[in-house]
Amino acid sequence: MSITDSVLQVPLFSHLEGHEAVRLAEATRERNYPKNSVILFEDDPGDALFIVVKGQVKVVLIGEDGREVILSVLGQGDFFGEMSLLDDEPRSAHVIAMEDSELLVLRRDDFQRCLEETPRIALGLLRALSRRLRRADDKIGGLVLLDVTGRVARLLIELADEADGSTILRKVTHHTIAQMIGSSRETVSRTMRDLVERNTISVEGKSITILNRGELSKIAGLT
Ligand code: CMP
Repeated sequence: MSITDSVLQVPLFSHLEGHEAVRLAEATRERNYPKNSVILFEDDPGDALFIVVKGQVKVVLIGEDGREVILSVLGQGDFFGEMSLLDDEPRSAHVIAMEDSELLVLRRDDFQRCLEETPRIALGLLRALSRRLRRADDKIGGLVLLDVTGRVARLLIELADEADGSTILRKVTHHTIAQMIGSSRETVSRTMRDLVERNTISVEGKSITILNRGELSKIAGLT
């Protein structure tokens, strides 16, 4: 696939005219990151925007004791690294490849030119940032208002909504789920077993399916 095709597959850029996409593609560089490599370090100065063409990355905060909190998992078509470019502050979090990942990198100057020349991209960016803020709000609410079962249920619904509403396509281990909801792997494993016994979800190998969305939504405090 050409870089222009990759650019047009990113929701943020999908409405660009052909010549605009070609111009943007010319300004980007392709880079590959092996699984577990750190793409961005928290507190580093920011000089580029990244777009995920293939693979999966996690946005994480790492405590002094080494514990990780996953703020978000991003996949194909998602972008990251925009915050430092917009507010000139250092990187707000680490971004780490969860699998071998192929990214497009757009330098600060080219990103800024792109926003100035194409207001549609700026509007799309605002929409994406609003969506992220909503998710962050939900997460804060969940941490304060829900127990671990509720938080797991809410995360599973969120992940299923990225696909058809019942199948979770992302490969998430119990350890990853624990880091996403602020719990331990053991507690998440126990909770998942409980949800399977209650016939709300099924787990076959690494694939998770929601069987009873109504019940899971109730547990997640969404109805
Ligand atoms: P920046 O601060 O430049 O570098 C880290 C990036 O992680 C940040 O830009 C965002 O792109 C991304 N990021 C930070 N917090 C979140 C979040 N809560 N959800 C999704 N992405 C995030």
